[in-house]
Amino acid sequence: MIEADDIQATVLRPRPSPYQGEYLLLRINDAAQGREMIRRIIPHVAPAVEWWSPSLPGWLGIAFTYKGLEALGVPRTSLESFPVEFRQGMAARAEILHDFGANAPTHWEHPFGTADLHVALAIYAQDEENLRLVLERAHQSHRDLPGVSVVYRMRFGELPEGRNPFGFKDGLHNPHLEGSAAQQEQVAASPDHEKPMKAGEVILGYPDVWGEIATAPVPEELRRNGTFLAFRKFHMHVAAFRKYLRKQASSPEEEELLAAKMIGRWRSGAPLVLAPDQDDPQLGADRKGNNSFSYADDMNGLRCPFSAHIRRINPRDALKGDIVQVDLHRFIRRGTNYGVPLPEGVLEDDGAERGGVFLLIGAHVERQFEFVQSQWATDGNFISHGAEQDPIIGNNEGDGIFTIPKHPVRRRLHALPKFVTVRGGEYCFMPGLRALRWLANLDA
Ligand code: HEM
Repeated sequence: MIEADDIQATVLRPRPSPYQGEYLLLRINDAAQGREMIRRIIPHVAPAVEWWSPSLPGWLGIAFTYKGLEALGVPRTSLESFPVEFRQGMAARAEILHDFGANAPTHWEHPFGTADLHVALAIYAQDEENLRLVLERAHQSHRDLPGVSVVYRMRFGELPEGRNPFGFKDGLHNPHLEGSAAQQEQVAASPDHEKPMKAGEVILGYPDVWGEIATAPVPEELRRNGTFLAFRKFHMHVAAFRKYLRKQASSPEEEELLAAKMIGRWRSGAPLVLAPDQDDPQLGADRKGNNSFSYADDMNGLRCPFSAHIRRINPRDALKGDIVQVDLHRFIRRGTNYGVPLPEGVLEDDGAERGGVFLLIGAHVERQFEFVQSQWATDGNFISHGAEQDPIIGNNEGDGIFTIPKHPVRRRLHALPKFVTVRGGEYCFMPGLRALRWLANLDA
């Protein structure tokens, strides 16, 4: 069994619904004060076992960038034992991630891509009042410490019916981990045929897909029950998405079908593999049913296109027979939405910021998030689609293509614009609770 009392809740538990929250990013200018901040915050960091227990008004998660660990005074031998992608940071990996043009780090919001981002706090609560309470605790941890400063604050919250700004139900699928009793909700929603992930794929200290247990970073106290996350903030161009659909379709029904083809699910969450011709809201609302599908029944892509977002990003059993081992490229995904929805039917951009922040969590960032982003989201080779990218998160610049298999001839959409723009991102290390104490007591 994995030690759910030592692992942060974010890793094993889905966020609450409804949810309100804030991301708070900190810079540490004084190592001793940074460690004091950690000492004060530890009692409020939610372990996975205590998720939504009545003693907690909300949930606080904490993670550190490489620069943050440096600023806390973590010894050099330990710093150097971290994986290279974490040490370099997300901005330095822009080429691998295809973060160019409007997505390039030079356009990111401050402090993303700079040395000013040290600590990320994610604070969630079920309502405003509880959010205020947890936020107050977070602020108390550093209010009187001039050596710790807030460099970024961002509010987020659930949109009506748990939809994202494009109107799709989100947070529907996540793998569950072997040996994790804390993940009952996830297990209940998992399709019967889906293999659980090896715990070491997500949490350091347990056997991974190869049966191996990570030996880095060192020391063991620091890595045990920790993990890494890729933080990605996206602005969603909702008006551009609606306008594009309107232009390509001759009826509202066709617009809905094209939107579903791009994602691989209807807006209700019903997967195209199970509901190929029209939406099935009942299926969309069925937590287990809406995940119980396999691409084995759709190997020609006539239901769900090969290039649809969910099929690219998690091909499930679609690549069977290929040399790719899909198990190596899975991760846990926690998403939150921000901004006010663009009113229904509006096709002109109102200039407001709206979108999502994704935490892509796994023990092996390079072969998980980075591989998926570079090989599956922004390249089409693995599905014999040349340079075609993911229609939603691909870095298209008005030149995108989206292929929809169809009888007797396929349909091909052209001139896809960018539907989402990266506003910032960073790699963080999310330690277990004992490791947090180790960090707080580095000077002891
Ligand atoms: C603004 C950007 C994005 C949008 C609008 C978006 C939208 C969606 C939607 C609507 C779903 C289906 C519902 C669900 O399971 O939650 C989904 C699933 C998924 N997305 Fe995204 N997504 C975005 C970014 C990303 C990124 C950056 C990644 C990782 C690189 C990612 C990975 C996944 C995965 C793994 C699934 C589950 C696939 C499955 O069901 O097998 N998404 N996304």
